[in-house]
Amino acid sequence: MLQTNTAEQPLGGVTGLESLEMGAARIQVDDKRIINCRADLNQLVPFKYHWAWQKYLDACANHWMPNEINMAADVALWKSDDGLTEDERLIIMRNLGFFATADSLVANNLVLAVYRHITNPECRQYLLRQAFEEALHTHAYQHVIQSLGMDEAEVFNMYREVPAVARKAAWSLPYTQSLGDPHFHTGTPENDQRLLRDLIAFYVVFEGIFFYVGFTQILSMGRRNKMTGTSEQFQYILRDESMHLNFGIDVINQIKIENPHLWTETFKDEVRDMIRQGVDLEYQYAVDTMPRGILSMNAEMFKDYLQFIANRRCAQIGLPPMYEGAENPFPWMSEMMDLKKEKNFFETRVTEYQTGGTLNWDE
Ligand SMILES: [Fe+2]
Ligand SMILES: [Fe+2]
Repeated sequence: MLQTNTAEQPLGGVTGLESLEMGAARIQVDDKRIINCRADLNQLVPFKYHWAWQKYLDACANHWMPNEINMAADVALWKSDDGLTEDERLIIMRNLGFFATADSLVANNLVLAVYRHITNPECRQYLLRQAFEEALHTHAYQHVIQSLGMDEAEVFNMYREVPAVARKAAWSLPYTQSLGDPHFHTGTPENDQRLLRDLIAFYVVFEGIFFYVGFTQILSMGRRNKMTGTSEQFQYILRDESMHLNFGIDVINQIKIENPHLWTETFKDEVRDMIRQGVDLEYQYAVDTMPRGILSMNAEMFKDYLQFIANRRCAQIGLPPMYEGAENPFPWMSEMMDLKKEKNFFETRVTEYQTGGTLNWDE
């Protein structure tokens, strides 16, 4: 039974599973809304949010598979007695421990909590692609763990056994659980804010802050010619993740445009608190994963970096900067994200996939 706010109008939007209404009026672009839409969701066009469709196309053009990345050098280095320091091993283990479960958590949030309440087919098309990419990321971490011959149970259980890994997952779970109730529906300011809060928790904080210490640590190792296969996996994942983040930002801003009454001063304060908590938890993760500093990086540099990132996240969702004067101590990370500068790294693979993905009926 749907909750109702008036006798005839159920709360929330359609799901796409409603019975067909034969002969109903055709969908017009203006009927479409990002949340609480009442128009049929099984018709992709006419497009309203071209940015969502474009991101779906861009994501498909960037397809990759974890098992095609050569892990031989990593296996040799991991198994050699003097190839890596204990500190480097700790960083690799902890990051695989965090990410191996984190991407499943993100995927479960998408399909079990967010998807039902985003009432727009072109956004859902991207969400389906994102969900598959999260599966590829979990596959990538599993592939690394298996290739290196790590104790799988130890790595996959870290998020219940190692506080540094557990804290970030534990922070995010209440936001997705809030929507997990099958009787939850958007359609009131309070419930629409609950959805917005979950989107901010997962896109802005989880994918937008909680991934960045680990990505920087592993990519920095790759830049120094260590664990290059693992680093390549992370680089492909970072490329996907920066698109997930940008999509999430667009969704959040579109919800704000269509529902300005949700973006209250109290809600903005709450968002700032969430970002602040995210920065603090991720800084703690930096301290826990590199107690002595490593590769000319130390936890203090990560404090600057996280504050710099938090200011960017604020700007992306229309809030003033939270940390005065924060600067980026890892400018090379921006280059890693700007993939056009990584031509040689990506060009062949992307081309291969685009060719390989086209069926040729003449052969
Ligand atoms: Fe991911
Ligand atoms: Fe993601």
